[in-house]
Amino acid sequence: MSAILDIQNLKKIYNSGSRELTVLQDINFTLYTGDTCSIVGPSGSGKTTLLGLCAGLDRASSGSVILNNIRLDNLSEDKRAQVRNLYVGFIFQNFQLIPTLTALENVMVPLELRGERNVQRQALELLERVGLAQRHDHYPTQLSGGEQQRISLARAFSNKPAILFADEPTGNLDEETGEKVEQLLFDLNRETGTTLVLVTHDLELAEKTKRIIRIKGGTVVSDTGVPAER
Ligand SMILES: Nc1ncnc2c1ncn2[C@@H]1O[C@H](COP(=O)(O)OP(=O)(O)OP(=O)(O)O)[C@@H](O)[C@H]1O
Ligand SMILES: [Mg+2]
Repeated sequence: MSAILDIQNLKKIYNSGSRELTVLQDINFTLYTGDTCSIVGPSGSGKTTLLGLCAGLDRASSGSVILNNIRLDNLSEDKRAQVRNLYVGFIFQNFQLIPTLTALENVMVPLELRGERNVQRQALELLERVGLAQRHDHYPTQLSGGEQQRISLARAFSNKPAILFADEPTGNLDEETGEKVEQLLFDLNRETGTTLVLVTHDLELAEKTKRIIRIKGGTVVSDTGVPAER
C-alpha cells in the first residue's frame, strides 16, 4: 500500500497580537490510499486547522506534510494550489462557495482549472448526484445551508480527488440528507479509491470510518490506527 498522506511532528502556532497560541503540536500519522479516517475532538481542539494543513491550504509552523509523495511545507502557495487542484477535494465547514457564481458555475471551477472537456455536463451530473440539478442556476445566498453543503460536496468531487477532506460534512443537514451525503462520501471511497478524511462531531459517522484519530488541546490523545501499548 502506498502512503497518500504522511504527517510528521506537525506544529501550528498562531500569532495573535503579541501572544503566541500553539494550536497543534506533535501530530504524527500516515494514511494509505483508500483509507477512511475520522478526526474527532472538542470544539477548538484544532481539527479544522489540522485539516487545512493536511490539504495544503495553510502552512505549518514546523513539521512536514507529504501528500501523494509531494512535500507540501516547502512549496510556494502557487505550487500548493496546483497540488490541491490535482489531488485534493475539500469540503469546508462554512462551505466557501463563490457568492457571485451559480451552483453550477461553482462546481465547474475545478473542472475548468484542470482544462477538462464537457465541463458543464460533468458539473450537472455531479449536481444530480447530490440531488440539486434543478437548482443549478441559483446563487449560494438563494440556497439553504444544507443545499450549499451539497454543492460544496459536488465541487469537491469534481476533480476526482485522490484524497478528500471534509470538515463536518453532515453538520448542517437533516438526518435524511445527512445519510445521503454520507453514502456519497463512502461511494466515492469505494468506487474510486479516494482516501476520506472527515472531521465530525457525529460519533456514529466516525465509527463508520476505518480509523479514528481523537485530538484534544492540539495533540492526538488516541488513534485507532496505532496498536495499543501492552
Ligand atoms: N487564524 C487564527 N488566528 C488565531 N487563532 C486561530 C486562528 N484560527 C484558529 N485559531 C484558534 O485555533 C484553535 C483551533 O481552532 P480550530 O478551528 O482548528 O478548532 P476546531 O477543532 O475545528 O473547532 P470546531 O469543532 O469548533 O470547529 C482555536 O482556539 C481557534 O481560536
Ligand atoms: Mg472546526
